[in-house]
Amino acid sequence: MFRLLAICCCILSASSDDAINNHNFPENFSLGVATAAFQIEGAWNADGKGENLWDWFMHKYPEKIEGQANGDVACDSYYQWQEDVKLLRDLGVNHYRLSISWTRILPDGLANNFTLNQKGVNYYRTIFKILLDAGITPYVTLYHWDLPLPLHQLGGWVNPIIADHFAAYARVCFQQFGDLVKNWITINEPQTYCSLGYLTGEHAPGYILPAEAIYKCAYTTVMAHAKAYHIYQDEFKRTQNGRVSIVLDSPWFQPPSDSDEDQLASQRAFDFTLGLYANPIYVGNWPEQVISIVDYRSEMEGYPSSRLPKFTDEEIAYIKGTYDFFCLNSYSTNFAYHQNNKDERIDPDNVSFLSDQGVGFYVDPKWPSEVDWVNLVPSGFRKLIKYVHDTYNQPEIFITENGWAQNSTTSGTEDPARITYIKQYLSAALDAIYIDGANVTGYTVWSLMDNLEWDHGYQIKMGLVQVDFESVDRTRTPKASYTWYQNIIKNRCLADNVNDCTS
Ligand SMILES: *[C@@H]1O[C@H](CO)[C@@H](O)[C@H](O)[C@H]1NC(C)=O
Ligand SMILES: *[C@@H]1O[C@H](CO)[C@@H](O)[C@H](O)[C@H]1NC(C)=O
Ligand SMILES: *[C@@H]1O[C@H](CO)[C@@H](O)[C@H](O)[C@H]1NC(C)=O
Ligand SMILES: *[C@@H]1O[C@H](CO)[C@@H](O)[C@H](O)[C@H]1NC(C)=O
Ligand SMILES: *[C@@H]1O[C@H](CO)[C@@H](O)[C@H](O)[C@H]1NC(C)=O
Repeated sequence: MFRLLAICCCILSASSDDAINNHNFPENFSLGVATAAFQIEGAWNADGKGENLWDWFMHKYPEKIEGQANGDVACDSYYQWQEDVKLLRDLGVNHYRLSISWTRILPDGLANNFTLNQKGVNYYRTIFKILLDAGITPYVTLYHWDLPLPLHQLGGWVNPIIADHFAAYARVCFQQFGDLVKNWITINEPQTYCSLGYLTGEHAPGYILPAEAIYKCAYTTVMAHAKAYHIYQDEFKRTQNGRVSIVLDSPWFQPPSDSDEDQLASQRAFDFTLGLYANPIYVGNWPEQVISIVDYRSEMEGYPSSRLPKFTDEEIAYIKGTYDFFCLNSYSTNFAYHQNNKDERIDPDNVSFLSDQGVGFYVDPKWPSEVDWVNLVPSGFRKLIKYVHDTYNQPEIFITENGWAQNSTTSGTEDPARITYIKQYLSAALDAIYIDGANVTGYTVWSLMDNLEWDHGYQIKMGLVQVDFESVDRTRTPKASYTWYQNIIKNRCLADNVNDCTS
């Protein structure tokens, strides 16, 4: 869901059209699809579920959501999960990535002796069991943006106390579901909620805060993840033997020229988006560039202390290495060019995260795209995978989201653009594996079905399955891409003719 905090300009350049890699997928390569609780479940106040940040945001500010949409019913999956599981089984997926709604388990967000909502626990246990019976491995996200409302009222992700509440919630989930779930994702795409939630205000809670907010949000998020990881290691790993990671999202940042300035700018783009979250976990501490630039600029601006919170040595050691694999979401490529030096501001009266970065972004208008944050540049996806491989200790990489966004004005069950996109991105992933040596072990299409795409409401369609949001029972109809992906999963190769598959 990466969206740019950017000022755009347009420069043309040729788009690449890579040949399809006909290599078989590696033996245990896992092919799946993803959803998230808030985007599909509905039943927003049923069976004891508490109100969360997005329930509140959409009810309070309907004008901020396309079509004044909300998640009261969404895809109705709280009631129609059997239909979803049937679609998954027919599709033949190896795994299904889904998330737990925090307030379905702990209605006010707090983990204490009095709050566990057994009906919520039963709902997820039933689904996990049925998935396992069907041979589908659940990949379960604990936090996919649906913060309990009381924790938002305590300050949300810019308040470090949220890390402790998240950790307590994670422990409850490990206790309640750990016998069934072996692949845990703590948190989904923090760079998206930190920037869109607290800096641009496009996402809940809709805040436009001072330029330090994003760093506070990153600090709390990384601590929350590390605490949950340690709880699993210390209390559950021995008996449950699962694994834990965090989902990070990034586009590929392409320097538009060979100039040193642009090369450094593209590196800064990585440092201030992916690196802000990945470096503390995979390397230890914030990226050096982020520390030196934000410290320098804060002093220059006369702040009493740096806008960037510092990790203590103890915290650095505690956070470093809290991963079992690398979960990567990516949808697009952006050019990232040098915009300003560290002692300049884009707007002289404005202390901003963008000026800290000093990077401008744009996309090539020739890149196929129906929605501004998804474009078809498979070569960028391959480079991003290689970048993660090289930068973060050659980790096992699991692609936890990738997919094509249709503008509702063009949507339908014939979706050739989605097939082209997934085919080329999977091919790029195979190139990354077989040519670049990256250890990619899974790929996940966003999404199983059309759903509530946050501030875009139901206007952006990303499903392999169409959902009729006008019908009472939210009728599901597989699209052409569903049938296509079904065949890919069966053949375990992208060649049109299986005789062309190579091992
Ligand atoms: C695939 O998984 C099976 C079962 O876990 C394992 O025995 C086998 O070694 C794996 N193959 C590869 C190539 O990793
Ligand atoms: C609450 O749970 C804790 C930890 O399991 C236990 O030690 C304590 O006795 C419980 N308190 C009450 C009032 O039930
Ligand atoms: C600060 O600059 C950013 C980027 O140019 C802009 O989006 C934001 O609206 C500005 N804020 C104020 C208060 O002017
Ligand atoms: C969808 O297409 C319409 C018409 O071209 C356009 O106005 C709208 O901005 C598009 N939506 C997105 C999210 O790109
Ligand atoms: C890839 O990661 C898996 C899981 O961690 C590991 O078993 C395997 O050895 C790795 N393969 C390579 C080539 O590093």
